[in-house]
Amino acid sequence: MSKLLEVSNVKVQFGGVIAVNDVSFSLDEGELLGFIGPNGAGKTTMMRAITGVVTPTTGSIVLAGEELVGLPIHRRVRMGLGFSQQLVKPFRNMTVLENVALAVGSHHTGSPLSALFKVGRDAEKLQARELLSQVGIADAADADPSNLPLGYLKRLEVARALALDPTLLLLDEPLAGLNHAEAHKLADMIVELNKAGRSIILIEHNLGEVMRICSRLVVQDNGNKIAEGDPENVMSAPVVRAAYLGESADHAAA
Ligand SMILES: Nc1ncnc2c1ncn2[C@@H]1O[C@H](COP(=O)(O)OP(=O)(O)O)[C@@H](O)[C@H]1O
Ligand SMILES: [Mg+2]
Repeated sequence: MSKLLEVSNVKVQFGGVIAVNDVSFSLDEGELLGFIGPNGAGKTTMMRAITGVVTPTTGSIVLAGEELVGLPIHRRVRMGLGFSQQLVKPFRNMTVLENVALAVGSHHTGSPLSALFKVGRDAEKLQARELLSQVGIADAADADPSNLPLGYLKRLEVARALALDPTLLLLDEPLAGLNHAEAHKLADMIVELNKAGRSIILIEHNLGEVMRICSRLVVQDNGNKIAEGDPENVMSAPVVRAAYLGESADHAAA
């Protein structure tokens, strides 16, 4: 198997805070990798370094043989990168369908602004409708996103990421805030997307679902990679248990 993504010695520093400290990991083509760690571990920052929202202080990020560091976000998207954000922010003056159609359109035109004028296009709406069925929220196509429960918004966010037709999909805590049944269902959908050929990095806090669906895990804590490997070995490693125990102690104290 060839490497789709190679992250080498990436460091991201915000003033005095080292959010990601010399982290390296890679992703095989077709893999579903779980990227986990306690709150504040630097998971979102690592994802932002891959998408281009933040620039690493040092290090290299290679997608399908091409260096990403230094490239603008839209170039990375054109190279096959798709991502859903931790905080869901759909356009609230558009229906669910229009939100996804806009993403489909911006993928085709390369600009969200010119896509705004193409929202009415039937082909884009048709494709958007297919994406909504794929994530299981076709019934909400005509709804205003501000009236939807979080479980729907999370799936809307995944549909918008899929509109970019990515080869590598980065999902930042897609299961956060969902109840047990909803999380299980969305996790199953992520498995289906992976089986359909998408390589996926799943950043998650829901360890039960991560262990159920991911074949390999990378664990980051306090900016450092502390473990990597198959889920059972990783989760039983003392260093990982200590990181999560520290977190629950913090929560107990808070
Ligand atoms: N834009 C930023 N400016 C300053 N500090 C940041 C910024 N983004 C994240 N951080 C800090 O970096 C650390 C890692 O944050 P984050 O990547 O959001 O962690 P996680 O997603 O694992 O919870 C935290 O200490 C956070 O406060
Ligand atoms: Mg985060």
